[in-house]
Amino acid sequence: MGKQRNQPGKRPLRTRISGVSKQAAERAGKGKRKPIMSSESVTGALDARRITTQTLQDLKRAGVPIAMLTAYDYTSARILDAAGVDVLLVGDSASNVMAGYETTLPITLDQMIYHARSVIRAVRRALVVVDLPFGSYQGNSKEALVSAVRVMKEAGAHAVKMEGGEPALEAVQRITDAGIPVMGHLGLTPQSIYRFGTYRVRAQDTEEADTIRRDAQLLEEAGCFGLVLEKIPADLARDVSGALSIPVIGIGAGVHCDGQVLVTHDLLGLNTDFNPRFVRRYAHLEETITEAVQHYVQDVRTRAFPSGEESY
Ligand code: KIV
Repeated sequence: MGKQRNQPGKRPLRTRISGVSKQAAERAGKGKRKPIMSSESVTGALDARRITTQTLQDLKRAGVPIAMLTAYDYTSARILDAAGVDVLLVGDSASNVMAGYETTLPITLDQMIYHARSVIRAVRRALVVVDLPFGSYQGNSKEALVSAVRVMKEAGAHAVKMEGGEPALEAVQRITDAGIPVMGHLGLTPQSIYRFGTYRVRAQDTEEADTIRRDAQLLEEAGCFGLVLEKIPADLARDVSGALSIPVIGIGAGVHCDGQVLVTHDLLGLNTDFNPRFVRRYAHLEETITEAVQHYVQDVRTRAFPSGEESY
């Protein structure tokens, strides 16, 4: 089975939401629903408070796009949170980008809790959502609830994310009934990569597109507070975002979603051999780090480091 990340050779702002201009917020609005509050009142209020599932709902209603990124460690989470990211996802993509596995399948619940604790310690404002890893919720809904409770109690997470539609519904319902916010995830769900057998765009045929529409509706009815749509056609994502009242966050799902998520390592240019169309690189940190480290090695070799001022 081919892998998407970590495949050698093949692949592998400071923009506070309050900084969004009224015009930009209005442009972002799709005119689907009448806002219950203006984008200005939503964005102004965001400075002062923590992001909650209710804030995300308000942002959707006001037509203000939600910014979500992955985080797996204290230092990065501190920077991302201070930079104004609304939602930090402790994604099971940690399996790829932190641990170097081919897929997201190997990461364990204990490892996810370790990452989540580090992120939670850093965050002052963002909502922290933690992926339930493969094998921790598919067995039955009781097992799923036990996993979700562990993430909430042991890591101090604010919400969990689970992949899948109808087959995951009973578990989603049980977890939300216990008072734990759940984010759904449909489309190219990486925990099912061996069933898909490919990382190609999902739902290009009517049957799969209709399944996604139906599953999205069912997840909302089961109590999900949000939904990630991964690597599906933009028109389908637009329809789903318009049909649901909960926020829909896209990754490779076009501009019409209620928000966007990327893997932070991709956005920062730390994965230069991973180049799907949906990744925009906002920095080239692999180059920056390489140059800095080469410079350091050279300084050590030539005794240019440390200087007298850097010595005691
Ligand atoms: O684990 C992850 O990083 C994710 C995002 C790609 C949505 O689930």
